Amino acid sequence: MKRDLLTLADLTSHELRALLNRAAELKAIRRAGGHTDSLRGRTLAMIFEKASTRTRVSFDVGMHQLGGHAIVMLRRDLQIGRGEPVSDTARVLSRYVDGIMMRADHHAVVEELARNADVPVINGLTDRTHPCQVLADLLTVQENLGDPGQLRIAYIGDGNNMANSWINAARRLGFELSLACPEGYEPDAEYLAAAKAEGVKVSVGRDPAAAADGAHVVNTDVWTSMGQEEETQKRLAAFQGYIVDRRVMKAARPEAIFLHCLPAHRGEEVAAEVIDGPQSRVFDQAENRLHAQKALLEWIMGGRPLR
Ligand code: CP
Ligand code: NVA
Repeated sequence: MKRDLLTLADLTSHELRALLNRAAELKAIRRAGGHTDSLRGRTLAMIFEKASTRTRVSFDVGMHQLGGHAIVMLRRDLQIGRGEPVSDTARVLSRYVDGIMMRADHHAVVEELARNADVPVINGLTDRTHPCQVLADLLTVQENLGDPGQLRIAYIGDGNNMANSWINAARRLGFELSLACPEGYEPDAEYLAAAKAEGVKVSVGRDPAAAADGAHVVNTDVWTSMGQEEETQKRLAAFQGYIVDRRVMKAARPEAIFLHCLPAHRGEEVAAEVIDGPQSRVFDQAENRLHAQKALLEWIMGGRPLR
């Protein structure tokens, strides 16, 4: 049966850990000048309804490095943009390509694509989740601090697609997750309830320094995500104080690292001294999109077993 990656909760704990280990292996192979050709002759179709720098380039380069090929399509280039149903698009693309990656405005569209495609579907970001990003983030955490399952992770800011994906990661790896979000901007209630029902240590408070207290990892993301531009002014007011600055980093452990999926707004969700400072790993994190997604593609599209 084909597998999709729409949220990290689609993976078992074992699969998630095995993907991280394979990603580390692929990174080491690349660094040593080695080569893997596991997707030779295979094609990934990528559909973008929103802008992207990292997702687009890392998937394209990743397919190339694995001996395969990627096709990039913006919504306006496709018949979807003129009203062709997503379900028909899924059926047609399945006759040509071996996998589909989609960045969509609405999570339900990626779900519909996956339901109707015969080939694996990967979520390259929706309004609800961003699993490929958190896969790369977990690899970054593992490289710096060892097994993420043993750590305390903080997330400061908007309870958005990134916050939701961190909750799903905590459900599978069992780390402690403390979030600080303004009132009305909490993460998805369904994911939070699932995490709590599964006994995961996840909390949502209001105080960034309290969330960061004793944390090994401090995360944040933009106050206004793609598709929310009309709310920018309202959000600027609501998120005042939700900045990761030196004071918040001081509450974390001395060896703590700072993560941000990028793009970032210095002076809003993060102070320049933090994102450009010694605890920041944001560019390793961006690089790790490539390695993490190669591990995912080999497995989901190439049938390489996870060990
Ligand atoms: N972090 C991330 O997904 O970046 P892009 O929007 O540039 O793809
Ligand atoms: N939360 C951000 C992440 C961008 C990679 C957005 O959805 O725009």
